[in-house]
Amino acid sequence: LLNFDRIAPFYDTTRSLSDDDMRSVLETLSKAITDSHLILDAGVGTGRFAAPLMAEGFEIVGVDVSVEMMKRALEKGVENLVQADLHKLPLRSKSFDAFLMVHILHLVADWKVVVRETLRVCRQKLVAVFEDVSDFTIRRRYLELRSEYGLPTTRFDDGERGLAKILKPDKVFIALDRAERVNLYEELEHFEGLKSTITWEVPEETHSIIIARIKESITNKTLERKKRYVIASWSVDRLNVET
Ligand SMILES: C[S@@+](CC[C@H](N)C(=O)[O-])C[C@H]1O[C@@H](n2cnc3c(N)ncnc32)[C@H](O)[C@@H]1O
Repeated sequence: LLNFDRIAPFYDTTRSLSDDDMRSVLETLSKAITDSHLILDAGVGTGRFAAPLMAEGFEIVGVDVSVEMMKRALEKGVENLVQADLHKLPLRSKSFDAFLMVHILHLVADWKVVVRETLRVCRQKLVAVFEDVSDFTIRRRYLELRSEYGLPTTRFDDGERGLAKILKPDKVFIALDRAERVNLYEELEHFEGLKSTITWEVPEETHSIIIARIKESITNKTLERKKRYVIASWSVDRLNVET
């Protein structure tokens, strides 16, 4: 299991959504789950989504393996927390209306087991929030180079976005869709400073080589990139048949 305890103190500051963007995403997310009440936040982390959803009147139970991450969620008023591995939930079947997945599916050892397990405890639907960037990203380049050095990840790197590619969601809501100018050196710092999980299992020397190679290949400091935030939902019945 990837251990988020170490990065819990600064996790919230590493997220790329501004307050305004977060508000738009939350507004669209609330609409997507408006017919659900009791929601399981799978990989609740610091409660970035759980806390504001609770303020909207949703009842949220958060599950995570990291106590340090959940401590931050508790500080934000998220009180229903369960320390557990998403591959094996200590929860009764069909006990939740919906479950939420945000930045989690790319981290787990076996994403299919996790989807199946969350389906078991859920009555209505899976709702995922993900960023959809089609242009160059440092993350994608880092993953390519990891593979080139014989160290491909064994996880589902495309996460929730990948699930939406494999299995068409029943509903798709676009929360944000615009061009954005990004500073690639700033983006690289996040990876250089080992803040991304994709850098964690790479030997130090290979990591330095990968970072140096990415640096060399950056010709323009900034890049105009399309940024989309997508909220996708799948009904439990469909996922049950098809995963
Ligand atoms: C990138 S964070 C996302 C947190 C939150 N959903 C958000 O969007 O801010 C991923 C979280 O998933 C948790 N996690 C990773 N693997 C897990 C597993 N197998 N079972 C439960 N939680 C897990 C980590 O501890 C971490 O808190």
